[in-house]
Amino acid sequence: MRIYLDHAATTPPSPAAVAAMQHALEECWGNPSSIHAEGQQARTILDGARDALAAFTGTAARNVIFTASGTEADNLALTGIVGRWSSSRGKHVIVSAIEHEAVLSTAEALSESGAAEVSLVYPDSNGVIQPEAVLEAMRPDTVLVSIMYVNNETGVIQDIPAISNAVHAKRAETFVHTDAVQGAGYLSCDMNALGVDLLSLSSHKLYGPKGAGCLVLRDGTFVAPLIHGGGQERNRRSGTEAIPAIAGFAAAVAELAENRNSWCDAMERLRAKLSDDVRKKLPETIIPGEQAPRVPSCASFVFPGIRNELLLTRLDTAGISASGGSACSAGTTLPSHVLTAMGFPEDDARGLLRCTLGHTTTQDDVLHTAAAIVDAVCALRSSPANP
Ligand SMILES: Cc1ncc(COP(=O)(O)O)c(C=O)c1O
Repeated sequence: MRIYLDHAATTPPSPAAVAAMQHALEECWGNPSSIHAEGQQARTILDGARDALAAFTGTAARNVIFTASGTEADNLALTGIVGRWSSSRGKHVIVSAIEHEAVLSTAEALSESGAAEVSLVYPDSNGVIQPEAVLEAMRPDTVLVSIMYVNNETGVIQDIPAISNAVHAKRAETFVHTDAVQGAGYLSCDMNALGVDLLSLSSHKLYGPKGAGCLVLRDGTFVAPLIHGGGQERNRRSGTEAIPAIAGFAAAVAELAENRNSWCDAMERLRAKLSDDVRKKLPETIIPGEQAPRVPSCASFVFPGIRNELLLTRLDTAGISASGGSACSAGTTLPSHVLTAMGFPEDDARGLLRCTLGHTTTQDDVLHTAAAIVDAVCALRSSPANP
């Protein structure tokens, strides 16, 4: 029996998501743009899914653009705003230094092509981006500010309402985007309460399938399309919609919305147990962002002097799937850019162990994992193979 503690990398699809996908694949395989009966059956699924995502984000269905992933939603947010608005509102873009690569690399590409001028804002030592730091980086030509809702390596929650209010108060023409990919499983994604103009989601982080995500817009926000073609998604993202993946996404989100609070309460207790048990035996353990509000799924640790790939291998052998941070940089020994931005020394920034719980995680899972982490760290400390 394996213990899966890598829910920030991906979640297992829920039975409701799988059932919705199977139904869409077998019964509703038409092209939703066709006017005949098969097409209209698919269109009904697509419309229902759009309604579900609109309800989840507190907006109107017309503001939901389905994409193939959270990465694509982030690309569309940044490139789409710069493409549509840079000539009238400015080409300066602000992103935080702790964003996922989906945002950071897009900002870098925009900067390299000359389409945008990009400034990075840094978090404090708890991993929190202060609204004042964003305001300081703003210029009269700032067209977009993009700050993630929850960090994928530390689980630290950003105060998005405070950031968007501050930005909009300083310059009403500046758009605010939040990458909510790691927040949506645990926190409300109501666009009005968050005060953002654009918000990205990914299905496979929310017990839905891979192959679906969305960018949600505030009413009246326009983006230039990344993908041109048949004009689907109101001309904002061409390509025949992936109905089975979108159906699974919507079913997962509906189930999540109903259960999120009770799932979070249970995870909070289990996360505390895991952290306390590890800390009791290894008191020198550092928990990045410990003083900041964090989502209840994320238990991240740094064990000074321990390289995370050796630790992860030992845990894997013990039947435990954890991660060294973002899945996209798994397998590399690069220091975490998140911990580096928080001011961690390089050696510690190479040592992140991220255990991310899901709603099916049990008390036994965390007891077993805490014991395995302690064993592995002690074994590595006494092993010459750990430089
Ligand atoms: C914060 C954040 N944004 C974006 C992404 C990319 O999402 P996707 O895997 O759907 O492309 C991830 C994935 O790890 C993430 O953690």
